[in-house]
Amino acid sequence: FKITVYNVREVETSLFEKLNKDDYDLTLVAERMTLDNVDRAEGADAVLITAFDDCDAEVIEKLAGYGVKYIYTRVVGINNIDVKAARNLGIQVANVPNYSPRAVAELSLSLGLTLFRNVSRAAANTHAGDFRLLPTYYANEIHSATVGIIGAGKIGMTEAKLYRALGAQVLAYKRHPEPDNDVVKFTDLDNLLRKSDVVSLHIPYIPGQTGNLIGDEEIAKMKNSAILVNTARGQVVDTQAVADAVKSNQIGGYGTDVILDEDAIIGKQFDSLDDLPNQLNVELMKNYPNVLVTPHMGFFTEPAVEDMIRISFENFANTLANGEPLYPINE
Ligand code: COI
Repeated sequence: FKITVYNVREVETSLFEKLNKDDYDLTLVAERMTLDNVDRAEGADAVLITAFDDCDAEVIEKLAGYGVKYIYTRVVGINNIDVKAARNLGIQVANVPNYSPRAVAELSLSLGLTLFRNVSRAAANTHAGDFRLLPTYYANEIHSATVGIIGAGKIGMTEAKLYRALGAQVLAYKRHPEPDNDVVKFTDLDNLLRKSDVVSLHIPYIPGQTGNLIGDEEIAKMKNSAILVNTARGQVVDTQAVADAVKSNQIGGYGTDVILDEDAIIGKQFDSLDDLPNQLNVELMKNYPNVLVTPHMGFFTEPAVEDMIRISFENFANTLANGEPLYPINE
């Protein structure tokens, strides 16, 4: 069973060898999948990709032409895959929805606490030689704060537990609310935005549904001191609205691991921020240290990367045994 694996990072290479217990015939490609290199999958039964790979209808048609029957991603997000186009061509799609949720939740917590305690603001000044204790560093403490989790799935609930363990009150919003439990109290989006000192996003990006979920109107409901954290997708916030809100002190800060047009950004080095694709990213990032951006590294921990590969192999093993992956995506 031949699998072409795209976007293989250095740390993954030896793990792919180590975890390949079923002896799949692997072709590891360092570059992300694009129309230009999709021919590396010629003759393969499957491709294994990530959220940074191009997987639109055009690429999928090529894959189908090469005889590829399975497009599996080793990450949670599937917004880069045209699932409908794949299904129409008889191609099965699967993801890995459950790699270590702590990986993303802990990064989210780190971004939240860093901004909540004004660490980035203070550090930027001290590193420029300014050791005054400025009033803008005066903070609350997390155990007397309220944290709002938008999207209470695996990662959202894991972050909720971390904040709860620190003593914070945790509110959560999800489309289908559940009864309250020891960790979170479910509420509507409006109430969550009004009450929370830290608002953390954990919803998938579904084009036409969750794009720009946090825009001017939602920001207007938030406290002026509130910290917004995004480890989901850049598209779920209105980047212009967030940049404006931070600049005008309408909110306290924005910590994000995800931005717009990541396909053209993540993994590359730019001489200057002004060279970034998409002017909205430039406008947003100019607000450092009140905006903190990391390079989509939420998943980049040893347990998570190992899970991504191990569970992908389980998807393939299940497919070969039962005709279905463990985690199929049907629409
Ligand atoms: C995801 O799992 O959806 C991620 O964002 C991880 C990343 C490697 C694309």
